[in-house]
Amino acid sequence: MTIKDTVRMRTVLGVCAVILACSVIPAWAEVAERDKAASEVATTFLNELGAAMKKEMTKGGPMEAIKVCAELAPKIAGRLSREHGWRVTRVGTRVRNPLLGMPDAWEQQALSEFAERSAKGEAFAGMVHSEVVAEPGGPYYRFMKPIAVQPQCLLCHGPSEQIPDAIRTVLKQRYPFDAAVGYKAGELRGAVSIKQPIDRGNH
Ligand code: HEC
Repeated sequence: MTIKDTVRMRTVLGVCAVILACSVIPAWAEVAERDKAASEVATTFLNELGAAMKKEMTKGGPMEAIKVCAELAPKIAGRLSREHGWRVTRVGTRVRNPLLGMPDAWEQQALSEFAERSAKGEAFAGMVHSEVVAEPGGPYYRFMKPIAVQPQCLLCHGPSEQIPDAIRTVLKQRYPFDAAVGYKAGELRGAVSIKQPIDRGNH
């Protein structure tokens, strides 16, 4: 190899490195940007829901609070989905409403990962999982943020003997296949799940 060849080779390698960096860095930056936007939307969802649950529990009592989980949660999810052009939803590790709450394969995997991370001592607060996933319709950005069981959730998601009779009767009537009971405080209840089509350039 002559000196000229070496120089040429270095130039080629240098150009390759620049091309590689240019294609990788924006992808990284883009995912970081999506992570930030998705985190904000998930937090808005959980904060609105948490505030409404607290207010309804003290004002209307648990029978009124059923509406927060059953009606307000899908309403907020719907509003955020339309506002952003993403699918914003809530999934459960065990499910009361299969139509809205059943996790798909990717979501199931993320839920298991959250449970494992929690078992190793990581707090659910601040935990997220995101990934760009190839699907038949194109690439999608997917994001999940865990939802932990708080003491006030046990009234409707705790062990059935701890659920007041009036609530248990309503739940049984409305959700004969209810599996979202038997939770303990601090356990993983589910997650906010966000799915964004990438090629439309949504953020
Ligand atoms: C007063 C009763 C009540 C309380 C309290 C309650 N939930 Fe629910 N929850 C429900 C009902 C009813 C549904 C089913 C909603 C539907 O029909 O889509 C549900 C559904 C859910 C789901 C969707 C997955 C599924 O199982 O269908 C999640 C996640 C959830 N609740 C989390 C919580 C958390 C976290 C808390 C505490 C902050 C909580 N819930 C408190 C009644 C309650």
